[in-house]
Amino acid sequence: MPNRLPTPLTDKPVADVTVVGLGPMGLALAGALLERGHSTTVWNRTAARADGLVARGARSAPTVAEAVAASPVTVVCLKDYETLYEVLGPASDALAGRVLVNLDSGTPGEARAAARWAAERGLDYLDGAIMVPPPLVGDPGSVFLYSGAREVFDAHRPVLAALGDPRHLGTDPGLAVLYNTALLDLMYAAMNGFLHATALVGSTGVPAAEFADLALGWFVPSVVGATLAEQAPALDAGHYPGDIGTMEMNLNALDHITRTSVEQGVHAGQPRFMKSVVEEAIARGHGGKNYLAVHEVFKRAAAPSAP
Ligand SMILES: NC(=O)c1ccc[n+]([C@@H]2O[C@H](COP(=O)([O-])OP(=O)(O)OC[C@H]3O[C@@H](n4cnc5c(N)ncnc54)[C@H](OP(=O)(O)O)[C@@H]3O)[C@@H](O)[C@H]2O)c1
Repeated sequence: MPNRLPTPLTDKPVADVTVVGLGPMGLALAGALLERGHSTTVWNRTAARADGLVARGARSAPTVAEAVAASPVTVVCLKDYETLYEVLGPASDALAGRVLVNLDSGTPGEARAAARWAAERGLDYLDGAIMVPPPLVGDPGSVFLYSGAREVFDAHRPVLAALGDPRHLGTDPGLAVLYNTALLDLMYAAMNGFLHATALVGSTGVPAAEFADLALGWFVPSVVGATLAEQAPALDAGHYPGDIGTMEMNLNALDHITRTSVEQGVHAGQPRFMKSVVEEAIARGHGGKNYLAVHEVFKRAAAPSAP
């Protein structure tokens, strides 16, 4: 991985850290810790994946119990929470009294269950979520989300800061993965919006590279930046005055997008879906309010729905 962060030129001791799980992300985490001068012990089911780290100074432990016993803090980055129990269950005794930082992806319920599992075994627990791909791990601007006891986060901040920019969201251990899921939700919706819009202009031969320049310059600073960020308090207040444009007007806009998609031979499923959400908002009495009242539709499903 790129050598962005120099090993600190200081005599101040840095904590020993263990990393369990050496998929693409675990390798990046262990690499970042080594770069920052942490004495790093690693364990992975497939031991050979540790070879490159060992060549850089890491210690590969023969068992997971020996790995967690080597450091006060263990960072776990496995496929999912199920794998966490499978891997760490046999090392519970070695973990007692230590700190577990779990960076597996999952649901808030799974994160809370893992925090209970940790508490029952007498270890401090932080749940976390990584908001960057492996090549950006170790960059000081890379956002890592954490939830759980504030004092555990504060005490181990220097270790967490070796991985990126650590943000503590609150004591509920489910918050980090909830934020992670919400941000991915935003990302996929924005990506789909951009990709569909690119397909629309592409239907007349406009290259994506040409459209991207105009579209992202228009959308990100002016619409996302100025409008959505400014309007966030109105979302919390449920205040959606229609003086900046009504839901009915937005229904017309979405109808134009849907009909233009059909006319241009572009997939119309996404605009149809967005139109159906606005129709639902109007049916729920929000026709005279501004577009942000769609938030009321998203907040509460009309009837219980399966995932
Ligand atoms: N890669 C990314 O861009 C990214 C970004 C953000 C978050 N994450 C999250 O980080 C976590 C790790 O992701 P990843 O990309 O490194 O790869 P991954 O494929 O999700 O996980 C690979 C790791 O899980 C281990 N594993 C899987 N099943 C196991 C089992 N039954 N017993 C023991 N170990 C098992 C693998 O061991 P072996 O090597 O032995 O197979 C390897 O260490 C995931 O929760 C992922 O969602 C990844």
